[in-house]
Parts: sequence; structure tokens; C-alpha cells
Amino acid sequence: MPDVWTSVRDLDQATQERLADVLEKRGADPQQQAMRRDLLRGIPFPRGAQVLDMGCGTGVLTRVLAHWPNVASVVGVDPAPALLEKARASAVGFQNVSFQEGDGRSLPFKDAVFDVLVTDSTLSHVPQPERAVVEAFRVLRPGGCLAVFDGDYATTTVALADHDPLQSCVDAMMANSVTDRRIMRRLTSVATACGFEVLSFRSFGFAETGNEGYMLTVVDRGADILCSQGHISEATAAALKEEARRRLRAGRFFGHIAYAGLVAHRP
Ligand SMILES: C[S@@+](CC[C@H](N)C(=O)[O-])C[C@H]1O[C@@H](n2cnc3c(N)ncnc32)[C@H](O)[C@@H]1O
Repeated sequence: MPDVWTSVRDLDQATQERLADVLEKRGADPQQQAMRRDLLRGIPFPRGAQVLDMGCGTGVLTRVLAHWPNVASVVGVDPAPALLEKARASAVGFQNVSFQEGDGRSLPFKDAVFDVLVTDSTLSHVPQPERAVVEAFRVLRPGGCLAVFDGDYATTTVALADHDPLQSCVDAMMANSVTDRRIMRRLTSVATACGFEVLSFRSFGFAETGNEGYMLTVVDRGADILCSQGHISEATAAALKEEARRRLRAGRFFGHIAYAGLVAHRP
């Protein structure tokens, strides 16, 4: 099963709606908000900064950037028209925000027009992500900054012990929904090879224990994937989902994803 995020426009409307909801739900999560703001605080935005949000989705980060100190304007770019439609609707009244359809590997902009390019949870979904880093270098002005925030998704876990059956759901989900689960491990060298100077590389943790949040959706979607691929029966998928809920009720649920953030500048 291919990574759904690489081709959102080809999915049926109901699935596109569901993915848009996933993004807004994740955007509203306090831990995710704190990580995002922490990353933004490490970016040296020049006064009057022109900013690009690459892979903006429904515009969660674009809307934060619009009010960030020193930011004059933000463009959100994404290849999925349905997500851009949601992004535009949510940003009505924002005077300094616009959205444009485009691919991060061939951006519809001239050379050296942005001061900062930010990308959140997108690079891991882009086949040949190196090409997007080359494009970032091209559209940034000399002195401009690239900021990448993404999951180190190979670390995603809900396991309480070795051979925990719930972990197979998480592994199936990540294998089928993230094109490059280890891009953040290579990003420092990729950015350097493209000509960037890395200013910082930081680790962030996302943990969920007691609430029906994002990690429960990961277990559920993973169980559905294993079932649709014929690895487990519908009854087993239902039992795995129930096991996750049983742990929540008992206060024993644990989920964790390591995220990482890189800030680099174009000399
Ligand atoms: C997990 S979503 C993250 C969206 C948003 N940045 C956020 O954090 O809410 C991944 C996004 O990458 C976009 N995407 C997929 N392939 C892309 C590409 N080649 N260039 C730019 N964006 C891409 C998808 O359409 C989707 O909006």
C-alpha cells in the first residue's frame, strides 16, 4: 500500500476529508503545538520575512506563521487541491497568507524569493526528498533559512514488552503511510550536500498515555491495514483495537514518537 500522503488528490473524497481532519486534530494537540512553536523559536526570522510553508496541508503551520514575529507574508504550497481548499477556508481574514498548488520538488517560484522555508511532517512523505531540499536552496535568498520538522517514524512505538502484538499494528501503519521513515537521520548530510550550513538539529518527543489521541488512530489504522492485506482476520483486527482501548481504560497505554527539527541557512 503506498503512502497516502504522496497522492492525496487521487483518493476518494471521504478519505481526503478524513486526512484533512487528521491534520487539524494533530494541529490542535497541545504537545504538537508546543513542539512546532519550539522549532519556530529557533529560526532567525529577519524583519519583514517572506515565508514559504512547503507541504502546508490544511494550513495548520501556515496560520501560526502568519502571526509569528517578523513575518510579513506566508505562502502555503501543497499538491493536494482538497487540502488547499480547507486551508483557504480556515485562513479567511488572514491578510498576509496565500496558498498555491505545487510540488516541493519543483516549486512554482523564481530563484531566491523567500527568507525562510518551513516544512512540517512533509519531507518524510516525499519520494526523493533530496530534490525538495535542492529546491528549498534554490528559492531561498542567500542568508535565508530552511527549517524542517518531521517524525523519525521508525521510532514509533506502543510496545509494553517484546513481541507486543499492538506493535505490529504500528509497524504496518508506518510502513504503509510514511515513504521515508528515516529521512531525519540523513537530513544533516543531505542539507550540507545541497550547500546549506546546519545551525541546529534537535530531538523532540511525543508521548501519549492516558487519552484517546493520535496514537490510538495509529493502532486502528494499522490493524485495518493488516486486515486489508490479508495478514489477520477482521476479528483479530477488532481484538487488537479493543486491546488498545483496554489499556487506555486501565491506565496502561503508552505511545511514543521521536520527532526531529533541523534549522539550516543558505550562505
Ligand atoms: C502529513 S501531511 C502534513 C501537512 C502539514 N504540513 C501539517 O503538518 O499539518 C503531509 C503533506 O505533504 C504533502 N505532500 C505530499 N507530497 C508532496 C510533495 N511532493 N511536495 C509537497 N508536499 C507534498 C501532502 O499533500 C500533505 O499535505
